[in-house]
Amino acid sequence: MRLDKLVSDGTGWSRSMAAKAIRRGHVLVDDAVCRDPAIQVSDGARVVADGEPVVRVGRLVLALHKPLGVVSATVDPSERTVLDLLPESCVRAELRLAGRLDKDTTGLLILTNDGELIHKLTHPRHHVEKEYLVDYDGVLEAPVARIAEGLELEDGTRCDPARFEPLGAQRARLVLREGKYHQVRRMVAACGGRVTALHRARVGSYRLPEHLPAGAAVPLTAEEEATLLS
Ligand code: URA
Repeated sequence: MRLDKLVSDGTGWSRSMAAKAIRRGHVLVDDAVCRDPAIQVSDGARVVADGEPVVRVGRLVLALHKPLGVVSATVDPSERTVLDLLPESCVRAELRLAGRLDKDTTGLLILTNDGELIHKLTHPRHHVEKEYLVDYDGVLEAPVARIAEGLELEDGTRCDPARFEPLGAQRARLVLREGKYHQVRRMVAACGGRVTALHRARVGSYRLPEHLPAGAAVPLTAEEEATLLS
C-alpha cells in the first residue's frame, strides 16, 4: 500500500495532511525517515507517524504490555481499559482481546481483530502455552509434583498438567496450556500460598519484548505472529 494512504487510514489525517507530514520527515518506516508519500510499503513494515505507531485498519495483531490497574476489557463504565492505552488508530480497528489478565496482573496481552486467531489462542483444544512469573506468600505444598500431575483446585476443578519451576524463595515460573478463570491465583491458593504479583511473559513462543514499556503496544510482524501458535 502507498505510504500516504496507509498513514491517512491509520491516523485519520486527510491524504494531503499525511503526504505533508511524510515530506517533512515526520514518518518513519522500519525506523528510518521516509519522505516519499508514494512509496509502496510492505505488509510487515512498521510505520510511525509523529511518534505514534500507525496501525493498518485492516487485520491487526498487537502485543500490549499490560500495566497494573487497567482492566482487560474493551469498554467499562468506570474503569480504565486496555483499549484506553492504545492510539486512536488502533481503536478504529475494532480489536478484541485474546484472553484476559486480571486488573492486578501485568504482562503480555494479545489484541486482534482476527476472530480465528483469538479462537486459536484461547480455545483449550489448541494447547497454546502461557508462561507466568509468580511471586507469592506462604510455603507451597509439593507444587512441582502436584502441578505436573494436574492440580485439583479448592472447588474441586481439575487442572491440566502444567509446569511449576521454582526461581528462588517465593518466586516461580508457571507454564500452563489452558486459561481457567483466575487460574494461577487459584493454583497457588490450592498449594497453600497467595499470589502477591503476577506477570505473563510469553504466549506460545512469543515473549513480551524486554524494551516494551508497561502501557505500550507493538504490532506483530507475520513471523512474530506465527510464534504465538508454535
Ligand atoms: N491467572 C490468574 O490468576 N490471573 C491472571 O491474570 C492470569 C492467569
